[in-house]
Amino acid sequence: MKHFKGTSEKRHHLAVLGNAPMFDITVPITSPTIPPVENIMRSYKKIFKSGMLTNFKYVEAFEESVKNYTGAKYAVATNSCMNGMMLILKILGLKGEIIMPSFTFHATAHAAAWNGLELVFVDCDPETYNIDPVKVEAAITKKTSAILGVHLFGNPADIESLEKIAKKHGLKLIFDAAHGFGTIYHGKKIGSFGNAESFSLSPTKLLTSGEGGMVTTNDADLAKKLRTGRNYGDPGNYDSEFSGFNARMSELHAALGIESIKALEKNVVRRNKMVELYKKFLSKIPGISFQKIESGNRSSYKDFSIYIDESAFGLSRDHVCEALGKENIITKKYFYPPVHVQKAFQFYPKRDTGLKITCMVSENSLSLPLFSHIPEKTIKKICNAVLALHEHADEVKKSLSKNFM
Ligand SMILES: Cc1ncc(COP(=O)(O)O)c(C=O)c1O
Repeated sequence: MKHFKGTSEKRHHLAVLGNAPMFDITVPITSPTIPPVENIMRSYKKIFKSGMLTNFKYVEAFEESVKNYTGAKYAVATNSCMNGMMLILKILGLKGEIIMPSFTFHATAHAAAWNGLELVFVDCDPETYNIDPVKVEAAITKKTSAILGVHLFGNPADIESLEKIAKKHGLKLIFDAAHGFGTIYHGKKIGSFGNAESFSLSPTKLLTSGEGGMVTTNDADLAKKLRTGRNYGDPGNYDSEFSGFNARMSELHAALGIESIKALEKNVVRRNKMVELYKKFLSKIPGISFQKIESGNRSSYKDFSIYIDESAFGLSRDHVCEALGKENIITKKYFYPPVHVQKAFQFYPKRDTGLKITCMVSENSLSLPLFSHIPEKTIKKICNAVLALHEHADEVKKSLSKNFM
């Protein structure tokens, strides 16, 4: 059995063929890179002393640091990305149809469904995996009120094309920027595009506050209403102006966010380096390709996804996922199944416009472990495991089907 040059890895005998797993301790798909607990404790002591546990100075300071990082004029902290999106759609007063990708995490669609909108799923680009602007324009009807783009896995959507389409047809443009802290589009950090962008701060993201979200926008009126909306629609005088809900961020979450954002840039750079390392080895294996990042853009690499062409690699994505699992390597089939076939949307008013590429990408993609502090050695070992699977594809397939019966 071969192994990649430059990796000190010894010959490996695959666990799926009855040998010991490559890793004694499970390699997670992701792991939050968080600051030392002592740094947070200093802030927590102050918060506890003040008795102000939510929506106060730390939240304001965190919003300020996100404004500085993204360059957006306004940042409004929420308790999740999805709640941020729900509020944006509600405040923009959207009705009728909203166009979005199906190759995304289902929260994108849930935010629109909770607003009573009719979901129109359009296909993604086969290389960038982001929503295809040509398909978006073709799907517009008299009922369309908005486009909801996603920066998938941290790869920025084709913002310029989407902005042109939105302007031409008088549509709102919103971005699900859940994966987007650290993403750069045409040399500029995302956060100021479209009407608003909603980021996630949950623990699988590059920047986390435990749970949480952040909406960024250049629209002063929208920002003001978002602040009211995250407080049940109450501007502070108990005379609620519209039906919002509780989407506030606590001071404790904000304190973690403030400490974590200090290392964000360093972490994005390191992730990009680790992805280069993955690509250096994996690109030598037949049947493996990668999400395309257009030049001038930077992915945050919230996820690193490989596309597996079964006929060239010798094994399907599902086989690879299962066999790597036996090596104690956790991988994820992001995003499978695509949203338009999920149970929640089976009987929901929706229109799909031919989602061939979405299905193909969804059925053949696999996210490999990636986190900001992942050791290089771990990546090299994972690459060796993938190479070994390719070289022993027939035996692996037989072994997996035997266990299946
Ligand atoms: C594309 C996308 N949108 C929305 C969300 C929801 O984020 P949150 O859990 O902060 O609401 C996620 C979560 O991972 C996501 O991947």
